[in-house]
Amino acid sequence: MSKIRLSDGIVKDDVLVIGLASNPKGGVAIEAGDLSIDSKALLALLSDMGATGKVDEIVKIPSSFVRVLVFTGLGAKSSAYSHETLRRAAGAASRALDGTKSATFALPTPNQESLAAVAEGAALGAYAFTEFRGTSKSEQKAPLSHITVHSALASKKDSKDVAERAEVIAQYTHLVRDLINTPPSHLTPDSFTKKVSAAVKSAGGAKARLKVTIWDEKQLKSQGFGGIIGVGQGSANPPRLMHISYTPLKPKKSYAFVGKGITFDTGGLALKPAQGMEAMKSDMSGAAAVCAAVLAIATLKLPIAIDAWAPLAENMVSDNATRPSDIITIFGGKTVEVLNPDAEGRLVLADALMKAQKVNPKLDGIIDVATLTGAQVVALGTRTSAAMTNNESFREEFLKASALSGEAFWPMPLPEELRASLDSPVADIANIGDRMGGMLVAGLFLKEFIDSQLPWLHLDIAGPAFNDAKAHGYTPVGGTGVAMRSLLLLAEQASVR
Ligand code: BES
Ligand code: MN
Ligand code: ZN
Repeated sequence: MSKIRLSDGIVKDDVLVIGLASNPKGGVAIEAGDLSIDSKALLALLSDMGATGKVDEIVKIPSSFVRVLVFTGLGAKSSAYSHETLRRAAGAASRALDGTKSATFALPTPNQESLAAVAEGAALGAYAFTEFRGTSKSEQKAPLSHITVHSALASKKDSKDVAERAEVIAQYTHLVRDLINTPPSHLTPDSFTKKVSAAVKSAGGAKARLKVTIWDEKQLKSQGFGGIIGVGQGSANPPRLMHISYTPLKPKKSYAFVGKGITFDTGGLALKPAQGMEAMKSDMSGAAAVCAAVLAIATLKLPIAIDAWAPLAENMVSDNATRPSDIITIFGGKTVEVLNPDAEGRLVLADALMKAQKVNPKLDGIIDVATLTGAQVVALGTRTSAAMTNNESFREEFLKASALSGEAFWPMPLPEELRASLDSPVADIANIGDRMGGMLVAGLFLKEFIDSQLPWLHLDIAGPAFNDAKAHGYTPVGGTGVAMRSLLLLAEQASVR
């Protein structure tokens, strides 16, 4: 985990990261924020090297001032770069600095928010997942471990908080990424609860006002969690339900976060094609995000009570797997005809959503986070998640928070006319309906398990949770950690109101 410090003094590191923008009239512009740089000779050199300043471009040049100057692209020159532009540029530079111990980042930081964005981006980009390297482990370069952000705001009174908060954000985003990247051979429902329990302990456990409860398969069965059992019964790795509560002394608000935790989704008896199935190790991204978010919120001691719920199961094929046409009973009594065992996420979520509302009837809002549908990826692609709701103002609040975090979420509707497609001739509801609008149909299914008075958000992160293309900005290949920051920002925003 990278250490972050802020400085307004002389640059002490051998490596200095500076912004580079493209000039609309041609050529590039150096954007070193509060650091004064003799740019004339550098500009000539950069132009000879063909530098353009476009986003995700990294140009390293030797220098007499420090040892290496690292120019990171900001895109079009601007008098006010967006926080996300700064976050990504810092992150792209970090990613290019694997094997380097320490670096100073000098980018435009006209205010605390942009300073925070640079610190976050730099820390988020400094990530590597090497746990399962064997003989090739020694060839792996360690990510940047010491980050200094150069800014005239470094000595302002809140700046220490800025650095600490960026460290917390990176720490818990990296926890989400690690859990996603861990293969299902090593991340079962049970081992998920153990890894996350260890993280709760490191975060301070009971002292940090955190409490963990875990249900095993026997308890789940006897207490009526038919969704989690139905999905998990085909696997040799039995299902679990994990609850992490954070209870500050005087909470201003109380939210439940519920994350889909399918440690591997084969599709069950509706077996998925082999091509691309490996990405289904990421089907527990929602569970990882909600668990990490509650820990980040507790670490930052926010006055917001959180119940994080992770229904965990492995969706496998076996003589004991749920068959198409089987009927299961969700916690609370609603019956579901399982027409497609590959629509399993909504079944485990239904159990956990019902339980979350029963355990805390006084919630101010409930949010589920899930890699729920391929239709989400078709609709919005791999970098924009969907937000569905029964309460417009709650969604507005969330979208403001997510925009500040830099994560892209887009509102999607829950059209009433699609609901009838979920009718079952034999049970209360079927688990699939119209194929067209599949993301919305899944949302409508979940809505059946939410008290109509309770503000609810359904976040489908199927595309953005896992990056199987190229790394970009602060986003590595593999688990991205998406939704963790938006949930944290929602709690932060609710704390200041
Ligand atoms: N985990 C998948 C959704 C998914 C697809 C996540 C691609 C990430 C990338 C989910 O369990 C699933 O299989 N959904 C089905 C639902 C269908 C059977 C109604 C889907 O989207 O095809
Ligand atoms: Mn599935
Ligand atoms: Zn799934």
